[in-house]
Amino acid sequence: MSAPKIAMVGSSMVDLVTRVPRLPLAAETLTGSDFKIGFGGKGSNQAVMAARLGAEVSVVVKLGRDVFGEQTLDNYQAQGIATEHVGFVDGVSSGVAPITVDEATGQNIVLIVPGANERLSAQDVQAAEDVISSAAVLICQLEVPVATTQAAFALARERGVTTLLNPAPAAELPEALLDLTDVLVPNEVEAAQLSGLTVTNASEAEAAARALKAKGPKQVVVTLGKLGALVLDDEATFIEAQTVKAVDTTGAGDAFVGSLAYFLGAGFDLVAASRRASAVATLSVQREGTQTSFPYAEDVTPHLESLGLGSSESGGAA
Ligand code: RIB
Repeated sequence: MSAPKIAMVGSSMVDLVTRVPRLPLAAETLTGSDFKIGFGGKGSNQAVMAARLGAEVSVVVKLGRDVFGEQTLDNYQAQGIATEHVGFVDGVSSGVAPITVDEATGQNIVLIVPGANERLSAQDVQAAEDVISSAAVLICQLEVPVATTQAAFALARERGVTTLLNPAPAAELPEALLDLTDVLVPNEVEAAQLSGLTVTNASEAEAAARALKAKGPKQVVVTLGKLGALVLDDEATFIEAQTVKAVDTTGAGDAFVGSLAYFLGAGFDLVAASRRASAVATLSVQREGTQTSFPYAEDVTPHLESLGLGSSESGGAA
């Protein structure tokens, strides 16, 4: 199987992660037990995950001309990600994300300060026409201007590239963007906000997915954290997640989206790709950090085989 080509037009952040015995209340001062700086941003996380599985990945991002920006460029290169469309902006910081992780449950609170991400523009998309047009799958999120995402999807649709939108953080979505979306992948919070419905279980996720699909996307996958994922193509399929002890759930959704893009690009159908993406995301919650928790192909392949999800298993890939 040749390496699928994935393009990511979206965000980069540096994560400032504090572990705490429990999540703080408003106006409370709480003592944390550990602090780490790591690479993050939903878009970059998804790109790194796809690269670790073996995809040929190109990113279109904007970084600040600061120490975080330089380190982020080095990180892409270390991950084998193509960086010819990484731009630097003067006078604005790189994106940062202060994150608090509850060490008892692995649950988190994530803030983002987009900084240079807000400068990614439709012109940057046009300049990256080559990598977008030659990709099997284009991944976008909502941590950069929505007009930029829409320009990228318009180009991808024109060139027959599968468009995968992770609508995070949830925001009002223009109808035109939903029309240009092949696969919409919200989590339960985003699905609820975008559909106006409550989403706490598989049947509510199916109702929300149907409401969202009616707005334009061809397929919808609602990720449900430790429950699993609800996949809506012609019909709905619930994928139950394996039960594990979560150490840190930060970036688990990104591990899912990056893996989904990889497996779709490799030729698996949506349900088969989602089963594999769910298994990869489950591996990621058992380790600390965001990108530091993402597994590599050499760990993923035997894991999938042990679950009966090897490359010879059904799902459409050659
Ligand atoms: O999804 C997790 C990511 O959200 C973090 O890496 C943080 O940077 C924010 O973008």
